Amino acid sequence: MKAIIPAAGLGTRFLPATKCTPKELLPVLNKPVIQYVVEEALEPEGVDEVVIVNSHEKPQIEHYFAEDKDFDAYLRAHGKIALADKVAEASSLPVSFVYQDQPLGLGHAIHCAAGKMDGEPFFVLLGDYFVPDRQMCVRMAKVSREHGNCSVIAVAPVPEDQVSRYGIVAGECVGMLDGSPVTDSEAEGAVWKLSGMVEKPKTEDAPSHLFIVGRYLLTPRVMELLATQEPGAGGEIQLTDSMLKLLAEEDMYALVVDPAEGCDTGTPAAWAATNARMALKDPEMAPAFKEALGDVEL
Ligand code: UTP
Repeated sequence: MKAIIPAAGLGTRFLPATKCTPKELLPVLNKPVIQYVVEEALEPEGVDEVVIVNSHEKPQIEHYFAEDKDFDAYLRAHGKIALADKVAEASSLPVSFVYQDQPLGLGHAIHCAAGKMDGEPFFVLLGDYFVPDRQMCVRMAKVSREHGNCSVIAVAPVPEDQVSRYGIVAGECVGMLDGSPVTDSEAEGAVWKLSGMVEKPKTEDAPSHLFIVGRYLLTPRVMELLATQEPGAGGEIQLTDSMLKLLAEEDMYALVVDPAEGCDTGTPAAWAATNARMALKDPEMAPAFKEALGDVEL
C-alpha cells in the first residue's frame, strides 16, 4: 500500500521565502517539514512506499531525499558520524517521485500518482502539515477496517464563526473509535458516517462544525473519478468534488481528531508556532530554546 504526498503547490502564502525554497523543505527544528510527513506516512501497517507529487520547479525536494556519497564521506572523514547518520536517514526512506506539470489543484496532483497505486487504497497526506506522534493515519486505518475497508477522512472541530474558511462535512456520528458511549459527537475519537461535504459554507448553512484536515484514506475508485474531474472552486481540480461523487457510490467515514494533534506549516504564523511548540516539547532543545527566547511576553 502506498501514500501520496502532494507537494507541487506554489506556496504563495509563504512568499517571498518560497520563491526559492519549497515550503515543504522549510525546517521545523533541524528537519524539513516533508520528512516529518514521510515518516508519518510510513507508520500505518502495510504502507511501504511514499509517492511525492513534485513540481519541476522544486528539484530541491528530490535532492533532499537522494543519497550524497561525497558529502557522507566528507562528514565521516571529519568525525561527524552522528550527523552523517542523520543526513543518511532521509535517503534511506522509501520515497519515489511523480511530477505535476502545473499546479492545477489538489485533485489533479493526486491523480498524477494514479499509475503508481496498483489499483489499491492509498493514503493522502498534505505536504505542509504533520502529526508528531504519527498516529492519525493509523487510527483512520482502524476505522476503515471496521467499516468494510471504506474511505476515511480526518476532521476536526472548528469554531462556528470560522466554518466559512474550510471544507465542512455533513453526516451523523455512529460511535466512538474506542467503543465508549458517545457523549459529544464532535469530540476526539468520534466516528461519522458521511452524507456530504461542502466547501466554505456560510455559518448558517454549515451542516456541522467539522472541517477536513489534510489526511485521507481513499479507495482506488477515486482515481477513476479524478481522471474526468472538471475544475471546480477557484478553477482548480478539487479532490472534494471527486470525493462527493465517490460518496454517491460508496460509504465514507470520518474520524474526529484533536486539532492540536497536528502541526500546520502552511503560513509564516503557523510555521513559527509549530517550531515553538516542537522546541518546547523537545527535552534536548527546550532549555536552549527558552534561554534564546529570553523574557518574551506572550
Ligand atoms: P495548499 O493550497 O496548502 O498549498 O495545498 P499551496 O497551493 O502550495 O499553498 P498556497 O495556498 O499557494 O500558499 C496543500 C498541499 O497540496 C499541494 C501543495 O504543495 C501542498 O502541500 N498541492 C496543491 C499540489 O501538489 N498541487 C496543487 O496543484 C495544489
